[in-house]
Amino acid sequence: MSTMDKLVSLCKRRGFLFQSSEIYGGLNGFWDYGPLGVELKRNVKEAWWRDMVSGHDELSAPLGAPTPYEMTGLDCTIIMHPQVWKCSGHYDLFHDFMVDCRESKKRYRHDQVRGRWVTAKGQRIFVATEQAGDEGLAETQQRALKFFNLRAKDVEQLAWEGELVSLTTVEDHARILGPDAKELGTLTPPREFNLMFKTYVGALSGEEGAAFLRPETAQGIFVNFKNVLDSSRVKIPFGIAQMGKSFRNEITPRNFTFRSREFEQMEIEFFCHPVASAEWYRYWRDRRFRWYTDLGLAGERLRLREHEASELSHYSCGTADIEYAFPFLPPGEFGELEGIAHRGDFDLRSHMEGKLVRQGGELVVEQGPDGKPRHRGSGKDLSYFDEESRERFVPHVIEPSAGADRGTLAFLCEAYREDEAPDENGKLQSRVVLKLHPRLAPIKCAVFPLVKKDGMPEIAQRIYRDLKKNFNVFYDEKGAVGRRYRRQDEAGTPYCITVDSQTLTDGTVTFRDRDTLEQWRVKADDCVPELSARIR
Ligand code: GAP
Repeated sequence: MSTMDKLVSLCKRRGFLFQSSEIYGGLNGFWDYGPLGVELKRNVKEAWWRDMVSGHDELSAPLGAPTPYEMTGLDCTIIMHPQVWKCSGHYDLFHDFMVDCRESKKRYRHDQVRGRWVTAKGQRIFVATEQAGDEGLAETQQRALKFFNLRAKDVEQLAWEGELVSLTTVEDHARILGPDAKELGTLTPPREFNLMFKTYVGALSGEEGAAFLRPETAQGIFVNFKNVLDSSRVKIPFGIAQMGKSFRNEITPRNFTFRSREFEQMEIEFFCHPVASAEWYRYWRDRRFRWYTDLGLAGERLRLREHEASELSHYSCGTADIEYAFPFLPPGEFGELEGIAHRGDFDLRSHMEGKLVRQGGELVVEQGPDGKPRHRGSGKDLSYFDEESRERFVPHVIEPSAGADRGTLAFLCEAYREDEAPDENGKLQSRVVLKLHPRLAPIKCAVFPLVKKDGMPEIAQRIYRDLKKNFNVFYDEKGAVGRRYRRQDEAGTPYCITVDSQTLTDGTVTFRDRDTLEQWRVKADDCVPELSARIR
C-alpha cells in the first residue's frame, strides 16, 4: 500500500475525511470533513486568520515588511452580481480545455492527459494515459501490447520514442489511442469549458436570472474596497482578508481533496502604493512561505517557485507559488498550495472602467463589436486619496491566495509517520502517528485514568473539565492504556495525561509527549498551565 493509500484509509477510519454523499455512491470532487477533520481544518483556518489578521501588530513593521501596515477582514456572499465575473475576466477566460472520448464516453482535461509515441508492426501511434511517472510508463506499455496484439515476451517489438509527453503536443488526433479506448482516433479535438457553476436567482430561470457560484473569494474584496475605505479608518498600505467556499466545475477532480469542485480559500488582497508594490510582493511571498514552515511543513517537500516572466498573467509583475511534494505526485513533481501574485491595478480598474485587456504595454478597456466596452464596469471611483501626500492613485494589489483544503491535506501528508513505541510491558510495537503541529492538532490532550477504580476516574475527570474550558481535550477510560495512547497518536493528539497509582500518593500525573514519547510528572493542579505553555 502506498503512503497516500494508507493516509486516505486513516482519514476514513478515524473520521478526518469522507466522500460526500457516500451512502449514495459519492459525488466526484466533493468531500466532507468528519469529527477530527473539521477540528483540523478549523485550526488551519483559525491559525491563518489569527496570524494574518486578528493577531497582526499594526504598530510595528514585521520582519521583512517595508513599513507597518493594517489588516482587516470581510465575509462576502458566494453568489454576487453577474457583472462581477464579466469585469473580472472569469466569464470570458476562466476555462480549461477538455477532450471527450467517443468510445468510452469519458471526459478528460486536455493538459492532464499524457502519453508516448510507439511504433510496432509498421504503425506509429500515441498511447495516452492519465497516469504519470512509472505508472504511466507501465500502463502505456501494457495498452500498446494489447493494441498491437502482442504478448509480454514480445515487448522488444515496441519501438518507443522518448518519455511521456503532454497530449497538448499532439496534433494528429487520428493516431491517438485514448486513455480508456481500444480503438484509435476516438478523442474529440479540445474544446473550451468554463469552470464556473451556473445557477438561477429567484423565480427567473432564463438568462435574466443566471448567476454564478464564486470561483474565488477575491472579487468580493475588490467590489467592497470602497465600502471598507469609507467605513473604517484604514490607510494604505493595508490588507483585506477573506476565507470561505469557492466552487469550480473541475473537469477531472482528483488526488483526494487536492482538486475538488467545492473547496475553501483563504485570500488576502493587500493594497499599496504602486511605487512600493514590488517590495510588498517580496514581503508577502516570504511571509506566507514562513507561515507554512512555522506550522511544520519543512524540509525539501516544500518549495517557493518564482514564475518565469512568460508564465505571468498579462497584468502581473511577479508571481510565486508555494508548492508541496504531495505523495500522490510522481517524484520531483510539486502541487500548488498557494499563489502570491502582484496584480497591479488590474482588479480595481476593471471594476471601475470595465473588463481590461493588454494593448501594447497598456491595459485598456476591451471593446465589443459596437465599439462600446465589452463588459461595462461599475463606474464607481475606486481610487485612493492620500491625505498626507495629497496624491490620488489607484492602489496596486498583492494577492496571497491559499487553499484551506490543500493546506490541510499537506499538513496531514507531512504529519503521517509509521514508527515504533513501547507498549505497557515495554515491548516495541509499530504505531501510526500524525505528528501535527500542536496548534493544528484536532485534540490537544487526552486524559486517562490508568484503571477504572481507586478514585482515578474522578481525578482524571476533574482534570479533563479544567482543561476543557480552554482546549479541545478528550477523556477515555476504556481498554489498555497502551491502546489508548496509540489511538491518540493516530489522531495527532500531542499530549496525554494519565492518572495512576502515584497520583493517589503525591498528587502528580504523567504527561506524555506524542513525538518524543518522553514522560514526566506534573502536579494534577498544574495541568492547565503545563498544557498552555506547550500549545502555542
Ligand atoms: N484569486 C486567485 C486564485 O483564486 P488560484 O491559484 O486559482 O488563484 C488559489 O487559487 C488557491 O486555491 C490554490 O493555490 C489552491 O490552494 C486553491 N484551489 C484552487 N483550485 C482548487 C481546487 N479545485 N480544489 C482545491 N483547492 C483549490
